[in-house]
Amino acid sequence: MINTLLPPQFSLGNLAIPHAIREHIFDEGFPMEMIGQLKSQVLADVEKATSLHALEDLRVNALGKKGQLTLLMKDLGQKSPEERRVIGAELNAAKEAITTALDQRKTQLEDAAINTRLASETLDVSLPPHPSPKGKVHPLSYVMDQVIHIFGQMGFVVAEGPDIEEDFYNFTALNIPPEHPARQEQDTFYLPSLPDQQPLVLRTHTSPVQIRTMLNEKPPIRIIALGRTYRSDYDATHTPMFHQIEGLVVDTKTHMGHLKGCLEEFCRLFFEDPSLKLRFRPGYFPFTEPSAEVDIAWKNGNWLEILGCGMVHPNVLRNCEIDPDVYQGFAFGMGIERIAMLKYGIEDLRLFFESDLRWLNHYGFATEVRE
Ligand code: DAH
Repeated sequence: MINTLLPPQFSLGNLAIPHAIREHIFDEGFPMEMIGQLKSQVLADVEKATSLHALEDLRVNALGKKGQLTLLMKDLGQKSPEERRVIGAELNAAKEAITTALDQRKTQLEDAAINTRLASETLDVSLPPHPSPKGKVHPLSYVMDQVIHIFGQMGFVVAEGPDIEEDFYNFTALNIPPEHPARQEQDTFYLPSLPDQQPLVLRTHTSPVQIRTMLNEKPPIRIIALGRTYRSDYDATHTPMFHQIEGLVVDTKTHMGHLKGCLEEFCRLFFEDPSLKLRFRPGYFPFTEPSAEVDIAWKNGNWLEILGCGMVHPNVLRNCEIDPDVYQGFAFGMGIERIAMLKYGIEDLRLFFESDLRWLNHYGFATEVRE
């Protein structure tokens, strides 16, 4: 299209315009040189710009409504069609070069800004927040750590079992067959299960971990199992979810004296009283024979019951394919809330689970926080 209006040697590119014509255009007052100078000046300024703000000023000065290039474009209207095309092309090329340069510089500056920010705002997540809000360890967690520590020193290792337990492990294998009255004593949460599946329960005690351990490991066994247990009960001394610690030792020469010594040692260390007295009373549990309930002599002269224990019933050993003529074992189970309440003077069991910050701050334990 241009070639139909312009002489053959004319083309859009600046260099293709013969010098004479360029001179002519300039003589007539066309700002050809100005365009070139303006373009170089703006491009140089863009290159030097150090802020997005400065860049925006340059854009407005050159390409804004009253920008230098815009004004030159407006002047075009007064020129002849040929001149308009030549200068218009020159102006468009300048505009495009400036726009591209502005965009590139903008991206550079933005990248640099982001990099500076990233460098200055790095967050070391291994550091404590500052100022450090001092969290507290829940008394139950603290007591569980103490229990693990004390039994750990006696050579016990921690074993685990699921909260959702099969009836077999929670009852049957522990010598509590289906019609056994002990099943009624524990207010069990039964879970729906398919007809040909083992009935499922929320474990009512940590004793099923004994079974799981004996089925998986050969004696000698020396484990403790801590965790959540569930019974449908709720008052000042019962919550539907509570915690127990279970202990189990199986070996060839294990006897009641070991059981007594072990529990005495634990209670004296836990309650921080080297002369603490324990009383073993005859008790009944289907999975131990003989069974005992253990009381500790409390400060006010009262005996307080803290745990149940006994020698592992031969039926339980047999259920776990352990020969009771070769091996004997002792076991014990205690409520973690119970020993925590005694040690720290907590009156109502339900408070453990209310997440009342005032209570947690009072009864919680300080953690070591790096300042
Ligand atoms: N499982 C019993 C309960 O929840 C506690 C218990 C008693 C555990 C005697 C034992 C034991 O291992 O030997 O009441």
